[in-house]
This record gives sequence, C-alpha cells and structure tokens, in this order.
Amino acid sequence: MSHTRVNQAPPRANRSELAVPGSNPRFLEKAAASDADVVFLDLEDSVAPDKKDEARRNVIAALNDIDWGDKTVSVRINGLDTPHAYRDIIEVIEQGGERLDLIMIPKVGVAADVYAVDMLVSQVEMAAGRRKRIGFELIIESALGMMNIDAIAGASPRNESLHFGAADFAASVKADTTQIGGPNPRYAVLTDPDDAGRRELHWGDMWHYAVMRLVVAARAHGLRPIDGPFGDFSDPDGFRWHANRAMVLGCEGKWAIHPSQVPLCNELFSPSEEELDKARRIVAAMEEAKAKGQGAVALDGKLIDLASIRQAEAMLAKVGERPAPSS
Ligand code: GLV
Ligand code: MG
Repeated sequence: MSHTRVNQAPPRANRSELAVPGSNPRFLEKAAASDADVVFLDLEDSVAPDKKDEARRNVIAALNDIDWGDKTVSVRINGLDTPHAYRDIIEVIEQGGERLDLIMIPKVGVAADVYAVDMLVSQVEMAAGRRKRIGFELIIESALGMMNIDAIAGASPRNESLHFGAADFAASVKADTTQIGGPNPRYAVLTDPDDAGRRELHWGDMWHYAVMRLVVAARAHGLRPIDGPFGDFSDPDGFRWHANRAMVLGCEGKWAIHPSQVPLCNELFSPSEEELDKARRIVAAMEEAKAKGQGAVALDGKLIDLASIRQAEAMLAKVGERPAPSS
C-alpha cells in the first residue's frame, strides 16, 4: 500500500437509494415505509419549475413529521446555477431539524462547487445549532464534472459518495441516446463470420468508462461509488443486469427511481452466501499459508496470494465481518 492513508467516509448502508419527488407528499410517506437504505427527497429534476417552493415546504414537513426509522435521509438540492439552490440549503437545514443526514448536490462541475456549498452549509449548521454534521452526496453527470472528478471527490471532508447520473451525463456529452441508463443497441460490435458465415452482434456497455472512472475516484478518496438511475421501471431483468455490472465494477449501491427497484438493489448489492463462503475460505487458506511462511497457495485448483486476501476482506467488510482494507 502507499504511504498515503485514505480516510474513509463514515460507513452507511447504501445498497438502495430511493428517489422521491418532493412535490408529492404521498410518495414521501410511502418512501419512509420502504426498505431503502437511503431515501433522497428531490427538489431538483423531478419537480416542475413552478412547484419548487411547494416541494421545499413538503420536504421540510416530511423531515419533521415522518418517522424515517433508521434510514439515511438526503435532500437533493437544485443546481448551483438556479435561483433555488441557496434557499434549498438554508431553509431545509434551518427548518428540517436533526433528521436530515445528507445533502445531494447535482451537476457538480468543479471542486469549488462543493467548497461553496460547504461554506454555506457550515454557516447554516452553526446558526441552527445542529449537533449532527451533514454529509454530501455528489452527482457526477457532466463532461466537466467527469473531467474534474478527482478534485471534486477530495473537495470537502463532508463528501461521502459519488453518484453517476447517466441521463444528464448523456445530455452533457451529447451521447446518442434518450433513455435513462441501460444499454444501447447501436453500441455494439459485429463479430467476424464463423465457419458457417454467421456473425453475431455483441452489445457493449456504453457507460463502462464513466462508471469505472467514478468508482476509481470515489475509492481513491474513501467515498462510496453509487450507480444512478435506470429509467425503465417495468423491466426488472434489465435493471438486474444493469445493477450487476455496476456492482461487479465496485459500486456499493444504485438508485431506485421506483419502489419496485428497491428490493432488487438490496439483493444485488449484498454479497451472496456463496461469495461470502468463498471469501472466508480464502482468508482461512491465506492465514494458514502465512503461518507456514508461504505467500501464495492453491485453493480449488487456482492460485491465491496476498492480494486475494485483500479482495476477500473487502467482500467480508460489506457484511461487517472484517474491517475494510485500506484503498
Ligand atoms: C440523474 O440525476 C441523472 O441525470 O441521471
Ligand atoms: Mg441529473
């Protein structure tokens, strides 16, 4: 490991992150009854421009009146280029009470965006006499944000997680798609013909670079990488595979833009018993090898070494069986 130690964000379950429009009080109540680890009450893109003030009032009432149990509660503020963001921050923190855990900042483009919000939040927090420090969730969803992701991730000790916003990102880079997340049949390659002259179309994952870049930046700064929305909520199989590949790349959770996606997130971002069992066997085999002075051994006919033990420990840390190895 490097001589540089990476501080880890406060640990928090973040397998499922349910988005709820602040303009709909009934949905806010339903969200509290869901199994989502994190609920974000939205003041931004799911709220029509003429409903912004009403949504803010609903969200403040929901923070005060609804029993959120042991959920993490976040509020997505409006973008820093709008006339709404300063009021979102001031009013939600001043009037929302201690229940607010996180603020989600959309469309972060440069590190100074985070710094500016941090400055305002710090003042309001002090003035309101809050005891609990508010953490930040940052959505990376523009070419600018993706370019500056490293500086953004390190811009505030409040930072807890980076989120990939596929819809706005696609708009920002002018990608040839109008759907929210998911695959694109035109992002594919045609295989060479086999002996019978048959060719196959192999679909690729057009979001691979962006998600992997986000995972690397988040982990290098001790933050949680979270995959954003998958818009087609009537396609659970599509959701499942989309979430799977984010999880395989290192994401810790994914947004649910519909309550039906919450149990899928919770299932897919929890390691299976089979994976946990394999990780436990790797740790045990490596501990035995270390005791014999060996650095690498065979397990089930495959080589494992000291890096395998760190992979296994990272897996076991997800269920609290081991401390997380440093990034
Ligand atoms: C989320 O905010 C997105 O733009 O996908
Ligand atoms: Mg967005």
